[in-house]
Amino acid sequence: MKATATANSNIALVKYWGKRDERLILPQNSSISMTLDGLYTTTTAEFSEKHRKDEVTIDGKKVAGEELDRVVRQLNLVRRLAKTHLSAKVTSKNNFPKAAGLASSASGFAALTLAATKALGLHIEKKELSMLARQGSGSACRSIYGGFAEWVKGSHHDGSDSYAKQLAPKEHWPELAMIVSVVTAEEKKVKSRAGMSQTVANSPMYRAWLETVEEDLKNVREAIMERKFTQLGTAAELNALKMHATMHTTTPHIIYWQPETITMMKEVMQMHEEGIECYFTIDGGPQVKIVCMDKNAGKIAKRVKGMAEVEKVYVCHAGEGARLSNKELF
Ligand code: PMV
Repeated sequence: MKATATANSNIALVKYWGKRDERLILPQNSSISMTLDGLYTTTTAEFSEKHRKDEVTIDGKKVAGEELDRVVRQLNLVRRLAKTHLSAKVTSKNNFPKAAGLASSASGFAALTLAATKALGLHIEKKELSMLARQGSGSACRSIYGGFAEWVKGSHHDGSDSYAKQLAPKEHWPELAMIVSVVTAEEKKVKSRAGMSQTVANSPMYRAWLETVEEDLKNVREAIMERKFTQLGTAAELNALKMHATMHTTTPHIIYWQPETITMMKEVMQMHEEGIECYFTIDGGPQVKIVCMDKNAGKIAKRVKGMAEVEKVYVCHAGEGARLSNKELF
């Protein structure tokens, strides 16, 4: 009745932005991501009579309120499948700051879903696991897979055709790197969830997002399959800017960028101009992630580390999918 799982975070190259169903977490558009080797969450879940209610600890802190509710909701999904009412103790540890736009909800919900299903003795296929993880946090469905994954949006009302699948394993493109820098490790004020629904509701740019996202998906999918770096970086950068344009133009506006974010974007453009080919992508937070080839990663990381704005730098490559672990957290 106890299991531990580790899942890596993933960064979208074509972003998931906007839901068509808030409860089931069904997206308006498909998305494509790279699972990162350097950022991960490990979670131990134990179901037992001795636990009188669900108790959740993340990075040494007991969680309460909305954060606890989200985990309990996910545990309820798994309990329903396993036909049990047992309460759980869940302990989770991230090797990076959570809720700062480094996709901790992706690795967190992927690890939780795998640990909880295993603890309750459920044997489910990756596709089903991905659909379950999706209901915790949309982007989590992609972290079930290593390498490169596409979350296919689907069209069914019950969500039965909205899941992630692997486009290519991590061995497919080991020369590709993603540099993740932390400019301010504060927790963000507007969660992706709230930002997303507001954007769908009233950004005049949201229509343009939906009208052009298929083109981005096609370009990024092909770039991954054929290992075309320039095509990948160009399409990913444009896609991130379009997503932020929808946020900048929603009312009230949502601007996740900090002055440091812009400084970093400019630095990426400067390096690119100097002949070090690299591109940026940004999620629901101030962090800038740089897509580059491994041969330039050391040089870029050194430049970025030298910037006053930057607190921490992780050089990542495509990583593994969610997996069981024997390193119990309690
Ligand atoms: O899964 P959520 O609800 O944390 O949303 C993630 C949204 C983005 O990170 C901005 C984009 C993405 O596809 O990961």
